[in-house]
This record gives sequence, C-alpha cells and structure tokens, in this order.
Amino acid sequence: MEQKKIYQMDRMSLPDFKLFQKMIYTEAGINLTEKKITLLSNRIRKRLKVLELGSYYKYYQYLKRAEDKEKEIVKMINTITTNVTHFFRNPKQFDLFKNKVLPDIIKNNHKRKSIKILSAGCSTGEEPYSIAIILLEYFKEELTNWYLEIQGVDISTDVINRANTGIYKKEKIKDIDYKILNKYFIEPDDNTYQINNKVKSIINFKRFNLKSDNYSSSYDIIFCRNVVIYFDSATKEEIYRKFYQALRSKGYFLVGHSEGMLNNNKFHYICPGIYIKN
Ligand SMILES: C[S@@+](CC[C@H](N)C(=O)[O-])C[C@H]1O[C@@H](n2cnc3c(N)ncnc32)[C@H](O)[C@@H]1O
Repeated sequence: MEQKKIYQMDRMSLPDFKLFQKMIYTEAGINLTEKKITLLSNRIRKRLKVLELGSYYKYYQYLKRAEDKEKEIVKMINTITTNVTHFFRNPKQFDLFKNKVLPDIIKNNHKRKSIKILSAGCSTGEEPYSIAIILLEYFKEELTNWYLEIQGVDISTDVINRANTGIYKKEKIKDIDYKILNKYFIEPDDNTYQINNKVKSIINFKRFNLKSDNYSSSYDIIFCRNVVIYFDSATKEEIYRKFYQALRSKGYFLVGHSEGMLNNNKFHYICPGIYIKN
C-alpha cells in the first residue's frame, strides 16, 4: 500500500479495536477503554507505515503470526504507554522516604547491611535515579560497606534503553538543585546532563512485564507509582498481591499520589501513598 493511503486511513473499526483491546489486556494487563480508539489507531498507524501493511486487521494478524511476535507486541505496547515522569516527582513523598522510610529500613537491616529497592514501571529512569541520589546524598556515612541495589523495571524496551544511558535534556533537570547536579551528573555537551557512574553503579534496569513475569523477592522497599492507572482492579489486585509477597516483612510499599489500595490487601497504611508489610 502507498504511504499516502496509510496516512489517510481512518481510525479502526470497533470490532478491530476489540481484538487489539483483548490482546493488549492479555499481554500487558493494560485496560484500554473505547475512548482510546483514536489514540490507538493513530499510534498503530505508525507501525503500519513501517511494516507497509494495508489495514489494522492485517497488523493484528501479523502480531498473531510474526516469528518475532514477542518483539512486535513490545513495540505496539511501547506506542500506547504513557511514560511521563520526572526527577523527585512528588517531593513530599520523597521527603517521607528520606525522613521515615529509609531511617527505619537502615535500623532494621543494620545486621544484614543491605538494602534492595524496586522501582516498578520506572519509565526513563528518573524515579530510580532520584532514589539512588537520596541514598548517596543523605546516608553515605551510615551506609559505608552496605550492599545497595536498586532495580528499575518497565514493560517498554524503549524507555529501559533510555534509562540505561542516564542522559537527559537540560530542560528535564532544570528543577534539580545545583549542588546535586554537580555531584551526581556529568555534562557531556551543552544540551544534556548524564548521571555519573557512582549513581549508575547501584542501579540495574531491565524490561519486565508486571502482569506476567516472575517477580524476584526480598525487597525492602517497592515503588510503584503512576503505573496501575493502566490496569483494571483484578490485575491491580494481583500485582499488589505479588508485591506483598516480594517484600520482606516490615518492607515499605510506595504508591502514586491518589492511588489507593484495594480493600482486601494486607498492607498497613502509614500515611498517604505509603504502606508497610507487617
Ligand atoms: C507514567 S509512567 C510512571 C513512571 C514513574 N513510576 C513515575 O511515577 O514517575 C508509567 C510506566 O508504567 C509502565 N508500564 C505500564 N504497564 C506495565 C506493565 N504491565 N509492566 C511494567 N511496566 C508497565 C509504562 O511503560 C510507563 O513507563
């Protein structure tokens, strides 16, 4: 099909939308409502153009049959997820993380001398890097000789690749304190800042699907902020159950602003956005 025709294509029909909706839910737990039909059509049209496919249904069939099906499904999911994030997002919660959560965990773990943190749905890395900077900036002395590990995971390979580079345009870091910038970033050129190796050394990133992959365990703290907005309550409940299992006893769970818990989970409420496993 000619490129021009692909550009002119209307949004997909409702029956086609329902096929994609079911596939996206099964693969990623992401619950797209019918309001997203135009958005999904616009985003998928870009893939049609690249693959030179003439209809949405052909793309659906391609997804079902493609040899590298997994990779193409990841590409489709990359196009529909919202990756908005920034450094020290929700500063009040980061203050509590610094003044309440970390001192508590450090006290509890003084024999083990290790802290393991998960940033679930970490997008381009600003959240796990902010966590690492707080650890290094405020707890350096106390944590000498401790084993520190922060894992950043996300379903989108695009954002994980970007997170790994640790490179950010200057406008993305404009609110960061000058002292912090100087200490934890380098300036490779006039337009960007890059996270330095010291911060990078305590973080690892990987592509991970919260809905279907096997969770690791023994986390002291889990951040999962502004991610469950994609999920219906059954998926959210299942994911929160897995987080509960993955946390150590007395481990903390931090959720996004206004993302409440479900009724039947076992977490104990500490303050808005912060829960503990008793
Ligand atoms: C809006 S960002 C939130 C980033 C960061 N946590 C914050 O609060 O600033 C949501 C991220 O969740 C990721 N996500 C959505 N569904 C996911 C899934 N099933 N497994 C892992 N990550 C997922 C998206 O790719 C996106 O990068």
